[in-house]
Amino acid sequence: MLKVRDLQVKYGVIEAVRGINFDVKNGEIVTIIGANGAGKSSTLNSIMNLVPKKGKVEFFEEDITNLPTNRIVERGLGLVPEGRRIFINLTVEENLKLGAYTNPDEMESLMEFVYSIFPRLKEKREQFGGSLSGGEQQMLAVGRALMAGPKMLLLDEPSMGLAPIVVKELFGVLKQLNREEGITILLVEQNAGVALRLADRGYVLENGKIVMEDKSDKLLSSPEVRKKYLGG
Ligand SMILES: Nc1ncnc2c1ncn2[C@@H]1O[C@H](COP(=O)(O)OP(=O)(O)O)[C@@H](O)[C@H]1O
Ligand SMILES: [Mg+2]
Repeated sequence: MLKVRDLQVKYGVIEAVRGINFDVKNGEIVTIIGANGAGKSSTLNSIMNLVPKKGKVEFFEEDITNLPTNRIVERGLGLVPEGRRIFINLTVEENLKLGAYTNPDEMESLMEFVYSIFPRLKEKREQFGGSLSGGEQQMLAVGRALMAGPKMLLLDEPSMGLAPIVVKELFGVLKQLNREEGITILLVEQNAGVALRLADRGYVLENGKIVMEDKSDKLLSSPEVRKKYLGG
């Protein structure tokens, strides 16, 4: 479904991503784990063409390497960016509406869908984004991406800054979106434990290179992954 080949991202002399290859199949949950600065955000942002890159990206066998971001969103890829990036001075509902710019006709039904997935957003729909808790803001960021009706979600460190119980709730929803709604997921995380417990497969990114890839249970029991990413 998503095929990434020889992806490279440079910022001046800094080589953030150094020629990586990976695939995500339709219906999978795949994670890329890596430390701060490994190149995770650069990978996702470059797939969406938010930063320049080299290499090739295919989505459903179409070459989307050079499509502008709004066209990539129309094809069915949605990004939930690092740090959530919701609008704190807009209400929950206004934030959600902004996510529907590619398909205004389906706005109402998508809004109902998002509210059914996140009932708390419905309760708080008239409140400002800035008044929500961290977990609710992350739900809003996921909800906004869902408003474009994506086939696949790219999530950039959704667990960041959230209490473990909130992460558990959020990741439960991600699993539901995958298993019940058929949304394919590519999740990048520093929090390797929760990411690998959710995902079917994983890649380990170090200094812009993929150094390991395997089924999640294999990575979870790998001595090297345990030592470096799971606190021994
Ligand atoms: N806009 C930028 N300008 C210059 N360097 C950047 C920029 N964004 C990221 N980098 C650098 O690229 C590397 C990878 O960053 P990033 O993709 O954000 O990693 P991660 O998301 O895994 O923390 C880091 O060395 C980071 O400092
Ligand atoms: Mg990042």
